[in-house]
Amino acid sequence: MTDIKHPVKKFKKTERVPPEGYDSSNDFFEDVFMDKDMIWMGQNTNHLHGDIIADAMASCVKEKEYSKYPPPEGFSELRQLILEDLGFDNCEVLLTAGATESLYLCMQALIEPEDTVILSDPGYFIIGDFANRFGNIKYVPIYNEECGYKLTPELLRENMDDTTKMVILIDPLNPLGSSYTEEELKEFAEIAIENDLYLLHDVTYKDFAREHFLVENYAPGQTLTIYSFSKIFGMAGLRIGSVVASKELIDVIKNAVVNDLGVNIIAQYGAIAGLKSKSQWEGEIREIAFTNQRLIKETVDEIDGVFLPVYPSDANMMAIDVSGAGINPKDLSNYLFKRKIFAREGEYTSELFGDRYLRVSFSIPTEEIEIFCEEFPKAIEALRQK
Ligand SMILES: Cc1ncc(COP(=O)(O)O)c(C=O)c1O
Repeated sequence: MTDIKHPVKKFKKTERVPPEGYDSSNDFFEDVFMDKDMIWMGQNTNHLHGDIIADAMASCVKEKEYSKYPPPEGFSELRQLILEDLGFDNCEVLLTAGATESLYLCMQALIEPEDTVILSDPGYFIIGDFANRFGNIKYVPIYNEECGYKLTPELLRENMDDTTKMVILIDPLNPLGSSYTEEELKEFAEIAIENDLYLLHDVTYKDFAREHFLVENYAPGQTLTIYSFSKIFGMAGLRIGSVVASKELIDVIKNAVVNDLGVNIIAQYGAIAGLKSKSQWEGEIREIAFTNQRLIKETVDEIDGVFLPVYPSDANMMAIDVSGAGINPKDLSNYLFKRKIFAREGEYTSELFGDRYLRVSFSIPTEEIEIFCEEFPKAIEALRQK
């Protein structure tokens, strides 16, 4: 009998240590998901919506529209609404199962083994994991005040070389909530044009920002704008998003498509309703999110050794630095978890600085933020290294 060879892992993926008491991260997430009393500050999702989007999806379900395949490239009404939301008239939209699939397709279609993709640390790891499957990655440390807790044009110039092919701008940035000025984006665009680079502008959190700009307007034909329905639209579980770029780029990316029979039709109905009604609910959701982050700031300001690296945050999440209190963020998230508050330790978004901060998202009802504001100081005092 011949020995069966064990398969080897062809791709590297950022490993997650399952939380205390769990064999796998999936078991943990399933438990958290099922717990209806959990305060949901761990995933940057949005729990502040009324019924408009839900009703549109319910009527799609009721009429059993889901028994048909959707048009493979999505409803043209939806693609047009996305373009209008971004204010682009010279681009095309490729709908995908969440922004996540768009991120993957961009890497697969555009990155070659000799190319390097530049990202920031902290940042959103899955982008680097995808890039690493097709080329090389370089993380630039940005957790400091001098660079404003973001990848700057200067840092890009210092870190790029002849192999650099793509630059990832997450704007606003998960986990810190830092964002770009129009001037900075213009400078990134100049660098991209001079050096023939792609700019991947992930604007998943754009609608929580006080002001937001789009680099597509300054580097058309070289920009990939990544658009999600998971955050301001509160549709994370529906898995719908898109990549928006010039026709030439979208044509290249389309050839990499996996989800060839189209994106979930219920999600598309929800997304259309969400975009058409955005002006009715967006202001209120933003207002609640601003109030909530102010409450967290007031709480944090009272505690020694704890601070917010970026305030105000332009996203629906922020990092709370607890290194001055000598606290391991993992102990802190475990402590809060036992009190039914789900938050994320820094290692989910940083190799280099993950031991310094806890990430909390705040697009949830203010009453729940008030519970966090009561529990958080107690947690710090319980865990503080004396
Ligand atoms: C920067 C960033 N991009 C993309 C995503 C994933 O978006 P989607 O749910 O649309 O796949 C996230 C999720 O947290 C994110 O933080």
